[in-house]
Amino acid sequence: MLSKKMETALNEQIVREFAAEQLYLSMASWCETNKLPGVASFFYRQSREEREHMLKLVRYINKTDGVAEVPACKAPQKAFKSLLETMELSLAGERAVSKAINALVDMSLTIKDYQSFNFLQWYVSEQHEEEALFTDVIDMIKLFSKDEKGLFFLDREIPKIGQNSDQIEKV
Ligand SMILES: [Fe+2]
Ligand SMILES: [Fe+2]
Repeated sequence: MLSKKMETALNEQIVREFAAEQLYLSMASWCETNKLPGVASFFYRQSREEREHMLKLVRYINKTDGVAEVPACKAPQKAFKSLLETMELSLAGERAVSKAINALVDMSLTIKDYQSFNFLQWYVSEQHEEEALFTDVIDMIKLFSKDEKGLFFLDREIPKIGQNSDQIEKV
């Protein structure tokens, strides 16, 4: 049984996951129309993942005697200065989400809601992975984005990064 306080806080997290889904979709679309089809596929995947994060929350709230609310979302940023800007905005967004998750974990402990505490652990490790992923991508862009050849290389390599990290963890 969810407390009203936790139900409201988890519903606010739905809004954040939804906003991330929309922002990554916007970045995918921008990349696709700016000669970066590989990075576009990376952001389409990120967007799909954020939708899954949102759905997990919807199901958890509804199955814990709460009511999930489907939010409206204000339009995400449409245009970006550079590939680097998309990744820096992504990392800043992920860090903000990590803070919000930490606050939810704090709340779950304070009110002794151990079911929610347990549920939120998945998000704690997911945020760690996401921050590491975008940090790697930013490092790579700083090394290789000097010229057209570098951008061509980045467009081929960036989509592989998330997939590789999964493989490394299975080793
Ligand atoms: Fe997320
Ligand atoms: Fe994320």
